[in-house]
Amino acid sequence: MITLKLNEFRLERYFAQYEFSARYLLCCSDCESFSIQEILDLDPDNERAFKESWLGYTESKGSLELRNQIAGLYAMCSAQEILVHSGAEEAIFNFMNVALEPGDHVIVQAPCYQSLQELPEAIGCEVSLWKLRSEADGWELDMDFLSGAIKKNTRAIIINSPHNPTGHLLSHQEQNKIIEICRANKILLFADEVYRYLEYREEDRLPWACDLYEDAVSLGVMSKSFGLPGLRIGWIATRNRSIMNKMAAFKDYTSICNSAPSEFLATIALRHYQQIAERNLQIISENLDYIKPFLNEHRELLTWIPPQAGPIAFPRLNTDVAMEEIARSLIAERGVLILPGICYGMDKSYFRLGFGRRNFKSGWDEFQKYIVDGQI
Ligand SMILES: Cc1ncc(COP(=O)(O)O)c(C=O)c1O
Repeated sequence: MITLKLNEFRLERYFAQYEFSARYLLCCSDCESFSIQEILDLDPDNERAFKESWLGYTESKGSLELRNQIAGLYAMCSAQEILVHSGAEEAIFNFMNVALEPGDHVIVQAPCYQSLQELPEAIGCEVSLWKLRSEADGWELDMDFLSGAIKKNTRAIIINSPHNPTGHLLSHQEQNKIIEICRANKILLFADEVYRYLEYREEDRLPWACDLYEDAVSLGVMSKSFGLPGLRIGWIATRNRSIMNKMAAFKDYTSICNSAPSEFLATIALRHYQQIAERNLQIISENLDYIKPFLNEHRELLTWIPPQAGPIAFPRLNTDVAMEEIARSLIAERGVLILPGICYGMDKSYFRLGFGRRNFKSGWDEFQKYIVDGQI
């Protein structure tokens, strides 16, 4: 038996330390959540049905009702092409395990949510990082790098758009180019699309990768754009039968099936997904407007690299003090949690800012006072 040797998940260990004690969470990647009651209130008669729902094992693939609801988000996938998981994280773990072999070459967009890189490495793949570059007007990916990086043994390309932690969004042209490269070289495309629906300009929203490409696996989840991480409901959508069947069988060794109450609530929430995403985009937009004057006034102190989508950005603070140290004293002195870029293996001046929560402004006021008071 092969045991996967996984390095510590830096970001998750960091959150484990502070998430439930910090007063202001200024770096969350999810949007403002809801109570169970608020979700039930979205449709009349739900409350009774929820209380009467059965707590037996659920269908391993996810209930048909939920998969139908999820399939409604896609142009080319039916319920047969959806597999529900415990959050996006289980789906990432299972995909990497069934799709990759030691010695495969994998290209991963970087920086990234650590499991997207860590798992291929732990499996023994040769990993090439496709690095985002920060330019004056935003983050950029070098498309020529991708064409040049393809090898005979390239098995998969792993992308994440809208992106954690930068808020970068591929253009339609770039998405088409990636798919063209994958198709020409028979490469799987794993597209982490968990922040979809949070594009600041609707025309920038990309089609789901699995709608455009038959060997793409699209990753979706209730946690981010819909603000419901406590449900632990994620999914993959793919038209690749072989990957679908292998992932379904692998799930018997991870969660077997999903939580019945979570499936019920996710089904309701997805019936109203546009309304929920619009509410979350509104919160994001108000919070970004709130910090704009500060960003304009303090360009020399804080380099803002504009995000195009999602509730997070990855700016840098221009000081010699490492962000880890600043983060430690911010939490100790002001109760404000920011995420140092080192959690993504990045330079010490980067940090992740999260603005999808309603109490963002109070946390930002504390943060802003701290940095302009010259405490750094
Ligand atoms: C890009 C990305 N993918 C996957 C995940 C995992 O999501 P979940 O918590 O729903 O498992 C996250 C969580 O932060 C993420 O940012």
